[in-house]
Amino acid sequence: MSSFLYQRPIHNPLSDPYPISPRSSSNPQKSYSIFSPTTLLVLLSLMVVMGVFFPWVGMRESLVSVTKPSISKWRDYTLAQAVSFVAQNGTVIVCAVSQPYLPFLNNWLISITRQKHQDKVLVIAEDYATLYKVNERWPGHAVLVPPALDSQTAHKFGSQGFFNFTSRRPRHLLHILELGYNVMYNDVDMVWLADPFPYLEGKHDVYFTDDMTAVKPLNHSHDLPPPGKKGRTYICSCMIFLRPTSGAKLVMKKWIEEMKDQPWSRAKKANDQPAFNWALDKLANKVDLYLLPQAAFPTGGLYFKNKTWVQETKGMHVIIHNNYILGFEKKIKRFHDYGLWLVDDHALESPLGRI
Ligand SMILES: *[C@@H]1O[C@H](CO)[C@@H](O)[C@H](O)[C@H]1NC(C)=O
Ligand SMILES: *[C@@H]1O[C@H](CO)[C@@H](O)[C@H](O)[C@H]1NC(C)=O
Ligand SMILES: *[C@@H]1O[C@H](CO)[C@@H](O)[C@H](O)[C@H]1NC(C)=O
Ligand SMILES: *[C@@H]1O[C@H](CO)[C@@H](O)[C@H](O)[C@H]1NC(C)=O
Repeated sequence: MSSFLYQRPIHNPLSDPYPISPRSSSNPQKSYSIFSPTTLLVLLSLMVVMGVFFPWVGMRESLVSVTKPSISKWRDYTLAQAVSFVAQNGTVIVCAVSQPYLPFLNNWLISITRQKHQDKVLVIAEDYATLYKVNERWPGHAVLVPPALDSQTAHKFGSQGFFNFTSRRPRHLLHILELGYNVMYNDVDMVWLADPFPYLEGKHDVYFTDDMTAVKPLNHSHDLPPPGKKGRTYICSCMIFLRPTSGAKLVMKKWIEEMKDQPWSRAKKANDQPAFNWALDKLANKVDLYLLPQAAFPTGGLYFKNKTWVQETKGMHVIIHNNYILGFEKKIKRFHDYGLWLVDDHALESPLGRI
C-alpha cells in the first residue's frame, strides 16, 4: 500500500483571505506569452518574495521557499481554532513538544499513522521553531499557547524548565475539555503497536495507565490502585484519555491546584506526575476513573525489563512507553534495539516526512 494514501489533501485552515493568484486575473499562459523571459523571471521572483503560493509547484518545495512571509499567521492560531480543525468525531489526540523532541514526535506519529488516527493529532508546540516546522509540513496540526518556553532549558528532565514545560499540560487539557472535546494526551516517547481506542470502554471520566512495574493478573481491576509507599498512587501522566465531563474537568482543576501547592524546588526536582496522582487519589470517590489494562499499556519499567512477561503477553501490547530511562541518546538506542525506532527507515509514513 502506498505510504502516501493516508495523507488528506493538505489545505490551510487559515485560508489566505487575500489570494494573489496569477490565475485570478486572466489565463496565465496567455499573459506570459506577451512577456520576455527576463520580465517573466523578475515577475516570478517578485511573486515568490510576496509569498504567493504556487499550488502546481511541488507542495513541499513551495512551502519551504515561501516559509518566511507566510509563517507569521501561525502565531495567532488559537487552541480553539486548532482543535476544531483537527478533531474527528469530537476527539483530538494531543502531545506537547519542544524542538529537541521532534525526532520522538515523528516516531510517535509514524506509529499513529499506521493505526490511521493521525488526522486527529494536534501538536502543542512549546516553542516557535516547533510551531513553524510542524505547520510548514502539516498545516494546522500545531498550535502554540503563549508564552513560548526557552527550548534550551525546557527539555532537561528534573530541571525547573522541564517542570514549567509539563506544568502547563493540565491547563491545555482543561481548555480542550471546556471546548467540549474528548482528548487523549500522549508523551511522545511512546509508540503505538495497535489502536488504543477500542480499550476506552464505557463512559468513564478519566482513563489512565499504571506506572508500577509489578506484574498484575490479566484480569486486574480497572479501579484506581491502592496508594504505594509515598502515600499516593503511581499512575502515569504520560497517557490520559478524558471525556468532556464535569468529573474530568474537576480532575484537571485539582491537578493544576496540586501543582501550585507543590511548586518546583531544587531539592525535590518535581515533575507533574505526583500532582496528577494526588488529584486522582483525592477525587477517587467523586469521579469515574478507569485504569487501562497493564498488558496493553505497560510501563517501560516492565516492557523493557521483563522478557518473560513480554513473552507471556505477546500480541496484547498496544502502547509502549520508553520511560524508566533517562537521556535522549539512551531512549533512542533502546527504541532502536527493540525495533521501535521508526524514523530512520519509515520517515515517509509520517505526515511530517523526514525531519
Ligand atoms: C466516528 O465514530 C463512529 C461511531 O462510533 C465510527 O464508526 C467512525 O469510524 C468514527 N470515525 C472516525 C474518523 O474516527
Ligand atoms: C519557571 O517558571 C517560574 C514561575 O513562573 C519562573 O519564575 C522561572 O523563571 C521559570 N524557569 C524556567 C527555567 O523556565
Ligand atoms: C481474576 O481471576 C482469578 C482466577 O481466575 C480470580 O480468582 C479473581 O477473582 C479474578 N479477579 C478479578 C478482579 O476479576
Ligand atoms: C517477570 O514476569 C514474570 C512473568 O509474568 C513474573 O512471574 C515475574 O515476577 C516478573 N519479574 C519481576 C522481577 O517482576
